Amino acid sequence: MKISIIGTGYVGAVTGACLAELGNHVVFVGRNKEKLDLIRSGKSPIYERNLDDLLLKNQERIHATSSIPDAIHQTNSTFICVGTPSNKDGSIDLRQVEDVSSVIGSALCSSPDYHTIVVKSTVLPGTTEELVLPILEHESGKKAYVDFGLATNPEFLKEGTAIEDFFHGDRVIIGANDTNSRSTLQNLYIPLDIPIYSTSIKTAEMIKYTSNAFLATKISFANEIGNLCKKMGIDSYDVFQGVGMDTRIGPHFFRSGIGFGGSCFPKDVQALIAHARAVGEETRILNAVIQTNNEQPGKLINLLKKHVYPAGKTIGILGLAFKPDSDDVRESRAIPIITDLLNEGASVLAYDPVAMENFRPLFPSITYAKTAGEVLKCDTILIVTEWKEFEDLDYKNRIVIDGRRIAKAIDEAAIYEGVCW
Ligand code: UDX
Repeated sequence: MKISIIGTGYVGAVTGACLAELGNHVVFVGRNKEKLDLIRSGKSPIYERNLDDLLLKNQERIHATSSIPDAIHQTNSTFICVGTPSNKDGSIDLRQVEDVSSVIGSALCSSPDYHTIVVKSTVLPGTTEELVLPILEHESGKKAYVDFGLATNPEFLKEGTAIEDFFHGDRVIIGANDTNSRSTLQNLYIPLDIPIYSTSIKTAEMIKYTSNAFLATKISFANEIGNLCKKMGIDSYDVFQGVGMDTRIGPHFFRSGIGFGGSCFPKDVQALIAHARAVGEETRILNAVIQTNNEQPGKLINLLKKHVYPAGKTIGILGLAFKPDSDDVRESRAIPIITDLLNEGASVLAYDPVAMENFRPLFPSITYAKTAGEVLKCDTILIVTEWKEFEDLDYKNRIVIDGRRIAKAIDEAAIYEGVCW
């Protein structure tokens, strides 16, 4: 197939490269010239394991342009992969989706061939049919499901393992209201040999939100139980090992600690809460999920204060990314933790293998170490992200307060506290 990918961010870059690997011709569309040049030269515009290799390997099938009409005229399907950030009140900001839908619509007007539009951006149920569809029809003068196809295809890619998730995910979700759009997407994904679940557009949109809300709930639940375990001198990791053996429950996403960050869970749960409020539904569980998550970083600071008076001290921070194998600092737990430390009058010496440049604009005044070893010169260390290299450090004679559970620190530190263990 010939596919346009609109958006060169995380979802667009990974989806486009993986679809090219499956043998499709891919045209990336973006506004950032530097990112387009990187893609053209077979380099990844984002930090993601093995993405460079895929882009380079499939260079002959990959093109990049800043023009949506050019891309549409060269292809027969278009994936919308633009961002859907949060407004100040937690609701979803759909301006990028609206803008690209409008340009796609006018390009469809002059496009003689049948074209299928696929919404991959995370959008609330109803958005594709009630916002994207009318814009496309209005701008193109054509009829959805008759003159052009329309579908949704939510992504379930985790940063750091996104390529693995694309090729070996648990399922592909296709949301389509007509046979043509459904079979276009089914044919695209059949080579993956992953279960495909096809449903209506609205249902597919809800599957994405429900999945992320459930995973976030699992983490906050693990943290609530973990807080209780800590009070009772029980290791919550041992508890969840036993609990997760029940196949009805499953072992994943029970890692208790300082909570979830990133570009999806906080934003998607907030958007669902705001949407529920708008339609007159109360979301008691989801409200509690966010509240528990917001309180977890404070547990780390309280444990620190049990052992150390932070004012005037330099505290070492290991990890700034919201998770390992990512340079993404959006909603990273390091943000509230460092804010609290500075408010307490402490100085901060921080290290992250790849996220320091993204973090620096948020906290320009703290000190950034060149190596993890440099941070270990502080006598008190907070572990915020579980990078693998932190398993090789020497924690002897140190006070370590751990938000993510690094085994070597548990074994070696002079004083060790885990948030939920
Ligand atoms: C998530 C979803 O997993 C993915 O399916 C979706 O499409 C995009 O959002 P991502 O945010 O990249 O992926 O990473 P994920 O591995 O899910 O972790 C999110 C956050 O939860 C991280 O801050 C991580 O540290 C935290 N987490 C995860 C826990 O605190 N405990 C866990 O057990 C798992």
